[in-house]
Amino acid sequence: MNSEQPLHSTQFTPNNPLPQEGLMPDSIATFEPEIIREMDMHIAKFPVKRSALIPLMFIVQRERGGYLDPPGVAFLADKLGIRITDVWEVATFYSMINTEPVGKYHIQVCRTLSCKILGAGAITEHCTKRLGIKPGGTTEDGRFSLSEVECLGSCGTAPMLQIGFDYHENLTIEKLDGILDSLP
Ligand code: FES
Repeated sequence: MNSEQPLHSTQFTPNNPLPQEGLMPDSIATFEPEIIREMDMHIAKFPVKRSALIPLMFIVQRERGGYLDPPGVAFLADKLGIRITDVWEVATFYSMINTEPVGKYHIQVCRTLSCKILGAGAITEHCTKRLGIKPGGTTEDGRFSLSEVECLGSCGTAPMLQIGFDYHENLTIEKLDGILDSLP
């Protein structure tokens, strides 16, 4: 089981300053040996450790309940020898990294140009009505979260959205209903 251990103030140095209030971890995540081995396998692919930040973020996110929490961020900074603020900078830039808890199904609707022109607004509106949540929200039962994100690189099959790691493309309202109905 993954757990946490206290984070010591001596771990903060001029090169590893305290992060902003609210993002300050008070503990550091720990992981089982097989998870550490999985991380080390990614680190070994790169000439410098810090280049493995994004693959390791996916692992920490997976192991910490679907989002990157402050103890998980503290772990990454320690593991890769970078600043806690460096980890937050990357985590808050990419929409595939969650920095808040999300539902079992995280629906991310692309709202950039091609998708917008071809009906992303109607797709988001339909999700909002059907699920009873606005973008940024999560259903009370924790089943769905809804977000609007920038281009997901699938402009030729707009409008589209992503649920977890799966892309759903050339969407219509009927197709969207079919996708939502099919989720276990
Ligand atoms: S504009 Fe939606 S995938 Fe690029």
